[in-house]
Amino acid sequence: MISLAVKSHVLILGIETSCDETSASCVLDGSTILSNVIASQADMHRRFGGVVPEVASRKHVEYMLPVLDQALHEAGVSARDLDAVAVTRGPGLVGALLVGISAAKAVAFALNIPILGVNHVEGHIYANILANPELRPPFICLTVSGGHTDLVFVPEHGRFEVLGRTRDDAAGEAFDKAARVLGLGYPGGPAIDRAAREGDPGAVNFPRAYLEEGSFDFSFSGLKTALIAHINRLKSQGELPHIPDIAASFQEAIVEILVDKTIMAAHVTGARRVAVSGGVAANSRLRERLSQRAAGQKLEVFYPPPVLCTDNAAMIACAGYYRFIRGQMSSLDMEVDPRLELAVDSV
Ligand code: KG4
Ligand code: ZN
Repeated sequence: MISLAVKSHVLILGIETSCDETSASCVLDGSTILSNVIASQADMHRRFGGVVPEVASRKHVEYMLPVLDQALHEAGVSARDLDAVAVTRGPGLVGALLVGISAAKAVAFALNIPILGVNHVEGHIYANILANPELRPPFICLTVSGGHTDLVFVPEHGRFEVLGRTRDDAAGEAFDKAARVLGLGYPGGPAIDRAAREGDPGAVNFPRAYLEEGSFDFSFSGLKTALIAHINRLKSQGELPHIPDIAASFQEAIVEILVDKTIMAAHVTGARRVAVSGGVAANSRLRERLSQRAAGQKLEVFYPPPVLCTDNAAMIACAGYYRFIRGQMSSLDMEVDPRLELAVDSV
């Protein structure tokens, strides 16, 4: 086992395969990205309108070794230079996770280096630390992607208090489903973001589900139903839907709830810093509204660059680095957990 006392630098190989991106990355000291190779399968899944788990697993098997080779090559390091391997253990698609974890175990066993099992949402949170070295706990992190909508308080490294999460669709999933209804294609978030720029966010008053008073949970399924009802109403009246207006209004309803609850979480916990991560963190209206609201409250806001917003292995390597320096190694018989909870194995 490598001891930090005698090592001045720590090189971690990250592996991420929880959904439809096969990614491997070399990160030095949890802060310098030497490589971040991402083989996306989005084109493959586009024609099905969403990720097909079996197709994703097969593609991960096909891409894993070339992606690993390329990550080492681009970083200019050899496998022997690695100090540890960090891998997404869950949540995610079970077959997809198994490919990544099997590869990570093989690397760790062959090189006799530690393996670090990382929660995928923890990875999204650490994408912010990787991108913004000045960001330190305590902070609030809103993780919004195709699979998650989690509002998390991070009081210190490795400790996660989940304040709220979605009770039905994730925010990204709501964008994807709405885009399908509007005929904008997959993935829907970027398409709605683009269409909304030409539209009026106040054109349609879609419902905002705030749930019980003080709740940090989210619910987006009613919004999707309201969108379908709105389109059907227009059709029955012989009117053509104005796509940019509908996209802008739908996006506004999601953004308003996300921003309100995130600001409320900062108030309740006393955190002065707020971070956003996950694919939906790339949404331009979310960034604009959150920055405006935070400025008024003197809160600092952090976002990763787009490449670190969506699934990538650099964020897993970064989260793994903080586990490594806490001595929180996993064992080689660690198993994938498609429903892994964020708080389960925090320090
Ligand atoms: O984090 P991610 O790459 O994968 C998951 O872990 O799910 O997030 C993908 C999700 C998709 O639902 C996609 O529609 C959404 O992020 N997304 C966006 C934008 N870019 C990606 N949603 C809204 N606005 C965007 N600009
Ligand atoms: Zn993700």
